[in-house]
This record gives sequence, C-alpha cells and structure tokens, in this order.
Amino acid sequence: MINIALPKGRLGDKVYKLFAQIGYDCTSMTEDNRKLVFKSPSGNVSYLLVKPPDVAVYVEHGAADIGVVGKDTLMETEPDIYELLDLKLGKCRVAVAAPNGWVEDMSMPLRVATKYPNIAQKYFAGLNREIEIIKFNGSMELAPLLGLSDVIVDIVETGTTLKENNMSVFAEVALSSARLIANKSGYQFKKDMIDEIVSKLGRKI
Ligand code: PRP
Repeated sequence: MINIALPKGRLGDKVYKLFAQIGYDCTSMTEDNRKLVFKSPSGNVSYLLVKPPDVAVYVEHGAADIGVVGKDTLMETEPDIYELLDLKLGKCRVAVAAPNGWVEDMSMPLRVATKYPNIAQKYFAGLNREIEIIKFNGSMELAPLLGLSDVIVDIVETGTTLKENNMSVFAEVALSSARLIANKSGYQFKKDMIDEIVSKLGRKI
C-alpha cells in the first residue's frame, strides 16, 4: 500500500496524466466531485488530493509516502523530505515584478507583496536590500496597483497575469517545476515500490 499526495488545480491535471501513463491510474480523480481520497482499483494505491502548498506537509508528516509539489513551495517551506525527481511539469519562474515604468527609490525600504516571504527575504538579503514584506495568499498583483507595495514576488508562467495588470518582470529569482518528493522514513520502508515509480516516471519525462 502506498499513499500519494497530489496537487489540485492546473498542476494537478498534468500530474494525473503523467501518473496514468505509468499505470497509476487516478482518472477517477479528474471527475468533477468533491472526494479527496481515491483508491486504485487494485486497492494498493491511495491518492490524496490536496491544495498544492499542502502536499509537502502531508509528505513530511508521513500521511503520504510520496507527493508532487512545485519547487517554489519547497524553496519557501524547506520541508524535511527527499526530493527524488524533477518532473519537468508546471515550469515557471519565481520573479520580482513591478508596474510598468516603476522606478526604484533606493533611499526607502522596498515594499514587497508576496505569498513567498522566505524566498523574498533570502533574495533581497543577498542583495543587501532592506525590504518590508506584505504577505498575501494570491492575486498579489493588486497590491502595487493599489499602492500597498512597490513590487511583488510571485510565480510567472505564461506572463499573462502580469501583462493584463500592466506589470512586468523586474528580476528573476529562481526557476521552478514540479518535483516528486518522499517522506524520509516512508522511503526506507517502501524503497522498492517508490524506486519503481521514480524509474517509470523518469522514462516518461
Ligand atoms: C499564479 C500566480 C500568478 C499567475 C501567473 O496564480 O500567482 O497570479 O499564476 O501565471 P501566468 O504567468 O501564466 O499568468 P495562480 O493561478 O496559481 O492562483 P493564485 O493567484 O490563487 O495563487
């Protein structure tokens, strides 16, 4: 029996297809219902469907043996897990973005709106730039438009959200993509099964 935590949402849809390709069919998850736990027909795989930032929490605490999570979340939360494989899905950039035409005032602390406070702190500390963080859970593009912040630190995938809000990338912080992660003790106990999944996934990406 193996427990797999998978993310809901746009990354999830790509991940379910990849798992289906290696015989881990979780297609019932893609049906429009509110169920959060799915068992494979053979009964030896249990899929937990959770919010993307929570995947690593389930895996770190052992409720799931493995899971799929964005590198951006791993950089932000630094969970104590094994990172096994880059699935090369959900590729995006973590970036500093600002309203078009914005000019930085170096005499003032930079006001940064983000759902990635740790990534932002580390990045600007590396530049010796004093900042004030304003933590948001989403839609932080609004913050500079309303004068709440100077810039945002967020993920940029297609760039559409920035473009539609008259903003552009000011600096790139990191690259991100989906990673297969494992609980550390779960990996010792279920090494054969997990290694088989890693090698099958490795052949598909
Ligand atoms: C993320 C991010 C941006 C958007 C970027 O939001 O916060 O808003 O995607 O993608 P794009 O470059 O393709 O436009 P998400 O859709 O995950 O929702 P959220 O705002 O609730 O975090």
